[in-house]
Amino acid sequence: MVSGKGGTGKTTVAAALALALAREGRRTLLVEVEGRQGIAQLFGAEALPYEERKIAVAPAGGGEVYALAIDAERALLDYLQMFYKLGSAGRALKKLGAIDFATTIAPGLRDVLLTGKACEAVRRKDKAGRYVYDHVIMDAPPTGRITRFLNVNDEVAGLARFGPIHNQAQAVMKVLKSPETAVHLVTLLEEMPVQETADGIAELQAAGLPVGRVVVNMVRPHHLDEEALGSAAGERRADVAKALSRAGLGGSRRGGLAERLVDPLLAQAAEHTGRVKLEREQRSVLEGLDVPTYELPLLGTGMDLAGLYELATELRKQAVDE
Ligand SMILES: Nc1ncnc2c1ncn2[C@@H]1O[C@H](COP(=O)(O)OP(=O)(O)OP(=O)(O)O)[C@@H](O)[C@H]1O
Ligand SMILES: [Mg+2]
Repeated sequence: MVSGKGGTGKTTVAAALALALAREGRRTLLVEVEGRQGIAQLFGAEALPYEERKIAVAPAGGGEVYALAIDAERALLDYLQMFYKLGSAGRALKKLGAIDFATTIAPGLRDVLLTGKACEAVRRKDKAGRYVYDHVIMDAPPTGRITRFLNVNDEVAGLARFGPIHNQAQAVMKVLKSPETAVHLVTLLEEMPVQETADGIAELQAAGLPVGRVVVNMVRPHHLDEEALGSAAGERRADVAKALSRAGLGGSRRGGLAERLVDPLLAQAAEHTGRVKLEREQRSVLEGLDVPTYELPLLGTGMDLAGLYELATELRKQAVDE
């Protein structure tokens, strides 16, 4: 499960993780549940139908990434078909509006259908008895909703205390709370996402759900060493002017290029220094959470397939380094 504050890179990280885990001929399934076709967009593919289809081949060893956009209505029909063998009766139900009830009136039921479909993919085996997917990765709802989304037992408790829905919720909960599952939280080195990460971890742990990693995304490179950061913060204009002259940029006479460069450079350096300081504070907050982290760089060129592979390689490197 990949969650995190909105816009921090959940979809991107989920996709990179699916690629990274598809190493050495493994097969992963990347699922989304919010009906936004974020995965298709990211891979430059057509909108995903309610059908698992191969969306990418992994960089190492020819593993495969499949993708699926889970839709609650279709998941309900699947479910009815599986448990009651309702074929055309399912279609009739749809006409009667039973599906509307399930997908719009009872959000808890909607969630158990979405997580239930993912769990079905987790447990699915082929004829030879092997798991069809080595890993199932969900681009999950954001931190503010993740615990409620996953806590399907509580969600349907008011709806069904026994019977098939209750049993389904129990079965799903068993998978979600097992060590087979991990909820990863994506964050940036900024105050709000880090705070949401801290709150999210506390909520997940209180609900007995397995917290995986914090993925620190879009980490910027630091260009200045400690000494340079010091002079930037101290606005040592003379030092900067001299250094520019040494670098052959315009000599040190008044009005020279070096002098004209000093102020804009100091302004940029001050901004950078402020950002580094803020990032360090947030990093120490994250360290205090005592959850292992992965770090992904900010890619300068915008996100495309090549960028995704780069992030996947980065994840693999960090997993191997441990
Ligand atoms: N490491 C990165 N380097 C550069 N750009 C990135 C990186 N990670 C994500 N992005 C970009 O940031 C934007 C947000 O990423 P993404 O859509 O994955 O976030 P999200 O958490 O899924 O958002 P939402 O909450 O809207 O679903 C996208 O434009 C994506 O391409
Ligand atoms: Mg997204």
